[in-house]
Amino acid sequence: MSEPIRFYHQGAVRELRGAAPTRTVLQHLREDLHCTGTKEGCAEGDCGACTVVLGELHADGQVALKTVNACIALVPTLDGKALFTVEDVQQADGSLHPVQQAMVECHGSQCGFCTPGFVMSLWAMYVNGAENPTRAEIDAALSGNLCRCTGYRPIIAAAARMGQLPHAGFDRVRLAQALGALQRGATFTYEAGGQCFHAPRTLDELSALRAAKPAATLLAGATDVGLWVTKQFRALGDIIYLGRVEALKQITESGGMLDIGAGATLEEAYRALSERYPAQLTQMWQRFASLPVRNAGTLGGNVANGSPIGDSMPWLIALGAQVVLGGAAGQRVLALEDLYLGYQRKDLRPGEFVQALRVPLPRAQVRFRTYKLAKRFDQDISAVCAAFALTFDGDLIAGARIAFGGMAATPKRAGQAEAALRGQPWSEAVLHAAMAALARDYAPLSDMRASSAYRMQAAQNLLRRFWLETRLDAPLAASAVNAFA
Ligand SMILES: Cc1cc2nc3c(=O)[nH]c(=O)nc-3n(C[C@H](O)[C@H](O)[C@H](O)COP(=O)(O)OP(=O)(O)OC[C@H]3O[C@@H](n4cnc5c(N)ncnc54)[C@H](O)[C@@H]3O)c2cc1C
Ligand code: FES
Ligand code: FES
Repeated sequence: MSEPIRFYHQGAVRELRGAAPTRTVLQHLREDLHCTGTKEGCAEGDCGACTVVLGELHADGQVALKTVNACIALVPTLDGKALFTVEDVQQADGSLHPVQQAMVECHGSQCGFCTPGFVMSLWAMYVNGAENPTRAEIDAALSGNLCRCTGYRPIIAAAARMGQLPHAGFDRVRLAQALGALQRGATFTYEAGGQCFHAPRTLDELSALRAAKPAATLLAGATDVGLWVTKQFRALGDIIYLGRVEALKQITESGGMLDIGAGATLEEAYRALSERYPAQLTQMWQRFASLPVRNAGTLGGNVANGSPIGDSMPWLIALGAQVVLGGAAGQRVLALEDLYLGYQRKDLRPGEFVQALRVPLPRAQVRFRTYKLAKRFDQDISAVCAAFALTFDGDLIAGARIAFGGMAATPKRAGQAEAALRGQPWSEAVLHAAMAALARDYAPLSDMRASSAYRMQAAQNLLRRFWLETRLDAPLAASAVNAFA
């Protein structure tokens, strides 16, 4: 039986029926609610004009406030959450919020099209306690916002100014109470226009639904699926939403592994990973998409989509991560590289879903790095993504795992280069042999991001960079190798 979507908006609970499950939050805001402050630029998560803030009640009773891109979020995923837009920022007495006031004082807006998105990114930072942010915090918070005319300097000045203005409070307790009343104990089912949206709460409910509807579209953060809707106009059929399955969000450590539930957001997953691998994964965390995309998207979705240019698979494969597949027939555990059978073909049986990733924790004898090569620091897709992990036995390379994105139809290991390294000392001569072997491992494509020749040369040079950083004799710091760091 269909239930209405219920979400908290402008101080009241809104109930929604009849909207297609693939209607985006942005379409609903602008066309149904006539809240036109939130803008549409790209409709693919790239520009930030549509940035809104979602409030979510976590299992521990805390409220999380996160920026997301309304243009690729589907409206039934709002159920149980709070939605804040630029219309909600002004204070109760009608005066401007410090974020808005700072934008005015610092001349942070010209045409104004990007401005609501910037204001929401700054507002999220403000209500999350960073009223006086560092430059690094400002850059991270604004990583998903593009401005074509003002330029970033005045906006960054506004971010630094907002904390100097009289403080504006935010009542999280009231929000937690409002959200508490919206939570559901069991699967939420919504139907409109013959299309069903199911949001199970437990793994058992998810397994049963998946078994009953193996052709339904699994939906996690919608940072890939949302674009199928807005750019390819694809019909999704019935949808099974993973975002309410609490067990999929857990991140735990046991037996030398970090277990990351498939539903943990990219932001949560990379935070946990960067705590364990600070030198290796912090930059990948910062450079993966933008904060709003990482707040919505999941590590499980990245792996399940398995794009040949995705950024998580190379380093997961190099580290020897396993993927746990769940389903009514029980669990299967695969080495991650074995999940990918060919372009967009995976070893996922009907009724199965990605349940978790198991990532080995750092080991003293393993030297590991991953590198993303793209034209911009933030919010860009890799031309080549490389990951290398060598296990040493004394001075010799006992084990080598190398994986690349952007070099083949799937994220793929470099078997020939690995063989050239195994049992050898980590010398420049051995490096050259492994670089030459990469040309036998891959025959990359030319496309708008890079030519085949560029990709091969870049892959070989990234292996050299890895050698410079990890050779046993006089290794270089990353900052000494990367002129742009
Ligand atoms: C602006 C922008 C920038 C981006 N930048 C990057 C980037 O820098 N690097 C990068 O790698 N990616 C990038 N992406 C891609 C995207 O963010 C990732 O692929 C994301 O991790 C997908 O996760 P999701 O939760 O949003 O998945 P969804 O979009 O919900 O789903 C993606 C696919 O996986 C399936 N799926 C999801 N979860 C499961 C599961 N648990 N079990 C089985 N199937 C599942 C879905 O059915 C679908 O086929 C970007 C996307 C956007 C819009
Ligand atoms: S409209 Fe560009 S990110 Fe949503
Ligand atoms: S003010 Fe015009 S795009 Fe930013």
